[in-house]
Amino acid sequence: MVAKRSDSTKEHWQSVYSSKSAQEVGWFQAHHEVSMEFINNSKIVKDARILDVGSGATTLLDDLLKEGYSNIVAMDISASALAVSKQRLADLIVWEVADITHPLEIEENSIDLWHDRAVLHFFTSKIEKQGYLDNLKMVVRGGGFVIIETFSPEGASQCSGLDLEQYDEEMLEQFLGLEFELIQFKRHVHSTPSGGERPYVSTLFKRRE
Ligand SMILES: C[S@@+](CC[C@H](N)C(=O)[O-])C[C@H]1O[C@@H](n2cnc3c(N)ncnc32)[C@H](O)[C@@H]1O
Repeated sequence: MVAKRSDSTKEHWQSVYSSKSAQEVGWFQAHHEVSMEFINNSKIVKDARILDVGSGATTLLDDLLKEGYSNIVAMDISASALAVSKQRLADLIVWEVADITHPLEIEENSIDLWHDRAVLHFFTSKIEKQGYLDNLKMVVRGGGFVIIETFSPEGASQCSGLDLEQYDEEMLEQFLGLEFELIQFKRHVHSTPSGGERPYVSTLFKRRE
């Protein structure tokens, strides 16, 4: 059952990134200003290990490198998505094709900052959410940071033709549990390339030591 779901998820995202340019997808941003603000606010050192889960073809990687962050892992279920960024950034980033809801091959407690924009909200089953959370708790060290950005409750209930679950900051707090302290959150609206409005919540958490 789980493998089937993972295969269809992979096919879906592979076909999205093979049929549209990185600038055409609804979640495209020329610069990820809120993500960068939160990452800088965490005050991690420039060689801290950052894991961008469901990285897609994001321009966040370019901005992180420009700001001097040098130890970045971009992970996605879709090799086609990562291939877009890889063409630009090649060996400046570590590339991982993996399903974030299945056990990751990443060393325990090795991640200083976990970043997820518009990924968790696609996981609508208990098993996917638990798989995601198990990975997060395995790899993020005590004192490390977690940034999760999802559609907020007033937002759309679908994206890329897939159903999703909206969150607010309290729901994300409950999802992560008491081990994680909410440091900052922001409600904001993302404008899609076709002129649509997508209300988001962005959150920054710190894992207690
Ligand atoms: C809406 S896009 C967001 C991409 C990027 N974070 C951004 O903000 O531009 C969602 C991304 O999550 C990836 N994704 C979906 N399910 C995944 C899974 N189970 N494991 C890893 N990546 C996944 C998709 O391939 C896609 O690149």
